[in-house]
Amino acid sequence: MAHLSAAQAPGETVANPLTLSFSPPCGLRGDFLPGVPHPERVAVACDGQVLATVAVHAGASGASFTCDLPPVAAPTQVRVEVRDAGRMLGGLTVTNLPKRNLGGLDALSVHKVCDRPLFSVPWMQFDGAILTVSGAHLPPAGNPDLLSVQFDEGVRYTFDHGLRSPEFANHFWYWPNADLSNFVLTIDLAGSRPGCDPFRFEFRYPGEEKGLGDVPAPLRRIGQRISIPSDLALTVCFPRDATQLTRVQTWSNDQSVTFTGYSTFRAIEALFAHYGVTPGPGVEILDWGCGHGRVTRHFIGQWREARISGADIDAENVAWCSENLRGRFTTVPLFPPTDLPDASFDGIFGISVMTHLTEEAQAAWLDEIARLLKPDGIALITFAGAAAAAFSSVFRPDPWWRDWVARGFDDAQHDPALDGKIGDDDYYRTTVQTTQYTIEHWSKHVDVVGVIPHAIGYQDMAVLRRRR
Ligand SMILES: C[S@@+](CC[C@H](N)C(=O)[O-])C[C@H]1O[C@@H](n2cnc3c(N)ncnc32)[C@H](O)[C@@H]1O
Repeated sequence: MAHLSAAQAPGETVANPLTLSFSPPCGLRGDFLPGVPHPERVAVACDGQVLATVAVHAGASGASFTCDLPPVAAPTQVRVEVRDAGRMLGGLTVTNLPKRNLGGLDALSVHKVCDRPLFSVPWMQFDGAILTVSGAHLPPAGNPDLLSVQFDEGVRYTFDHGLRSPEFANHFWYWPNADLSNFVLTIDLAGSRPGCDPFRFEFRYPGEEKGLGDVPAPLRRIGQRISIPSDLALTVCFPRDATQLTRVQTWSNDQSVTFTGYSTFRAIEALFAHYGVTPGPGVEILDWGCGHGRVTRHFIGQWREARISGADIDAENVAWCSENLRGRFTTVPLFPPTDLPDASFDGIFGISVMTHLTEEAQAAWLDEIARLLKPDGIALITFAGAAAAAFSSVFRPDPWWRDWVARGFDDAQHDPALDGKIGDDDYYRTTVQTTQYTIEHWSKHVDVVGVIPHAIGYQDMAVLRRRR
């Protein structure tokens, strides 16, 4: 059971008449006396690590703030401190918080590995004039007020955010105020200025570029950019087999697959452009692990002069693509080589494929990707890194987490999505790896030009070239 214990130690509150209180399981509240000046926002730290920056709201009986602390670290107690621009306003020692998940993993260990706020934007609805986009975005530094979206000038929209999100709160158990993650974005197409682009926006918040110093400046926000398909007819064509959709994305419907596929296409296109791969006659692109063409279809539709190919180990989905999409589709074996010719592709992308492979299979496919790339070609290959580990942390026991952080790689978990569909039911895994591991091990096979954290959803992107 979680209980409040302890109170402020004498002399801890500096000058400000701030009263802190705590209600189990996680609720921290601070009250300033009426009529006394108070900061607009305060920083909340647990055991010295600032977790949240929350707004102070003025009311008739004085100003106050609330903050749902995540379950916190330390074996028996945590020190909570409230600060204003580094100045201590108050402190409180809380014991017996639900500080760990069921596997004994503490929240601060997860937060240390991934302190970027994750988001998911699966829903889109259009009624002829108003486009509604909804999803969830973890409050940056625990504060929904810090989040905004940016559109082209002239776009008319409203952004309701900081809405209750019990599911996100459960999943992102380590994040402060994760239960205030939901948003609804309402875009008034008819009311927007002609010529502006209401189909793209990006999330913005202070500190968004923290830790991205090695990433080229134009690519730093690539993962925060959402692109909406303006041609809603794109949604109509998907496999109707019960599992053909869901074994590509664990949770699916036509609309979300269209939306995420299109947004991913735009991100890959921007990355390719940055590295010199643009549409044109004779340009060859390979979607490695194409599934049912969630992303491939947009290359086929938009890069009309290029030759677009898809390859997958899932013969049923490859057959569906061959019948329903223009483009060349090939079933490939679980381990290379493939029949595809040497040095034939300007660009290869692989979304959420390495995330399912063992160490041995990753190594073999990196060699194959190097063989298939033209000398100046570029490969964009995602892997499940820190954000993916944080996303699944609710299920991870503490020993697993420690081992993973130390070793940097885990491919032990079986993923049943392709059971019965490929020759070896032991092949498909849920693989999670750190950036450090990825650079060190993948560099034995290819040049790792860079890594872009959170480039595609919760996955990181490795930018690869043939070794020179
Ligand atoms: C999570 S799905 C992603 C599909 C697609 N890239 C997308 O983003 O929609 C992973 C896909 O990779 C395929 N796959 C797994 N291992 C592969 C391999 N070694 N070579 C080619 N495809 C593979 C699976 O069959 C599956 O279609």
